[in-house]
Amino acid sequence: MADGESGSTREVGHDPQPHGGVRVPVLEVEDLSVELLRPGGTPHLAVERVSFTLYESETLALIGESGSGKSLTAMAVLGLLPGNVRASGSARYRGTDLLTLSEAGLRALRGKHLATVFQDSLSALNPTLTVGFQIAEVLRVHRGLSRRAARSAAVDLLDRVRIPDPARRYGDHPHQFSGGMRQRAMIAMAVALGPDVLIADEPTTALDVTVQAQIMELLAELREEHRSALLLITHDLGLAAGTADRVALMYAGRIVEQAPAVPLYERPAHPYTRGLLNAVPSLDAPVGGLVPVPGAPPAPGAFPGGCVFHPRCPSARDRCATQRPELEAGADGRTTACHYPLDPLDPPGPQRPSVPKNPHGPQEAPRA
Ligand SMILES: Nc1ncnc2c1ncn2[C@@H]1O[C@H](COP(=O)(O)OP(=O)(O)O)[C@@H](O)[C@H]1O
Ligand SMILES: [Mg+2]
Repeated sequence: MADGESGSTREVGHDPQPHGGVRVPVLEVEDLSVELLRPGGTPHLAVERVSFTLYESETLALIGESGSGKSLTAMAVLGLLPGNVRASGSARYRGTDLLTLSEAGLRALRGKHLATVFQDSLSALNPTLTVGFQIAEVLRVHRGLSRRAARSAAVDLLDRVRIPDPARRYGDHPHQFSGGMRQRAMIAMAVALGPDVLIADEPTTALDVTVQAQIMELLAELREEHRSALLLITHDLGLAAGTADRVALMYAGRIVEQAPAVPLYERPAHPYTRGLLNAVPSLDAPVGGLVPVPGAPPAPGAFPGGCVFHPRCPSARDRCATQRPELEAGADGRTTACHYPLDPLDPPGPQRPSVPKNPHGPQEAPRA
């Protein structure tokens, strides 16, 4: 790695602009709102007017504390919301609005075009079939391979995602795999499909740090190989540091800041972003020196008026309690919803550690 000393410079491992610098949007989410319906009561707003665009072969990280509405956003896009939840707005996949698409239309897109890796693959895998067979089926159906060729390709894929003794583990059922192995099997399936868009919702949350790093490497490889666009959903800003091209911060159902990764990590403008960054372990920060954002995020139905973050915000003033800040464009291609954004040119506060050197990221991945 050339960047030996500065932890603040991110390695961008691929060219996200393959079309002569023109970024091609694959997923355009616009004014997406999600309401939780309550029998006999008014609905609770859980996601409010979220907009973002995912471009071909780029990684957008959607980040926020637990309960901020990340998974509901992903489920709405995938048409997988449960019955008590209603979405509005639009989510266009290469021009087709997924929110108004028929179930059959959605099914045709899921898998090959829109693949997913969730936190717990146990529920995504069929418990009665062997892991290898399930991967082979994907290859047979989507790539038209014969049974024999699909089996052999599935063993190769298990090997690629570093499942030890893949020919033997091919015949294991999902419960015989560890959590990390199941995540790798899900990624093997995604590799088999070569999806246009991969939505990974907390793909490494249940795993230990070493396995997390391997999973992030595999996701990076998948992106390289298929030029897939990745929507990486996580509560962990550190995890996204080495992977994301752009980052959107979500709080209480809204995007409060969105920016290319480098300026976001180096010069957060929203106090929430800075607060979360303070809580990210960095290689240079002493253990125990982390400064988490005090307090807890509100639940739908209890979102405060004004700026949703103001009760926890160290910079809040009177206006923040009454007037909602809208997302406004700032420098560096960022948008921030804050009445009193931090001055990006301000030196970081004394307690703020430097940008994480990304202990999880795919730093050693081969560069083209
Ligand atoms: N089906 C549901 N019914 C009622 N409340 C829900 C449902 N799904 C999610 N919620 C609530 O909506 C909020 C956002 O959930 P979610 O999108 O899962 O958050 P995140 O993925 O950011 O942790 C949480 O408070 C959660 O409890
Ligand atoms: Mg979630």
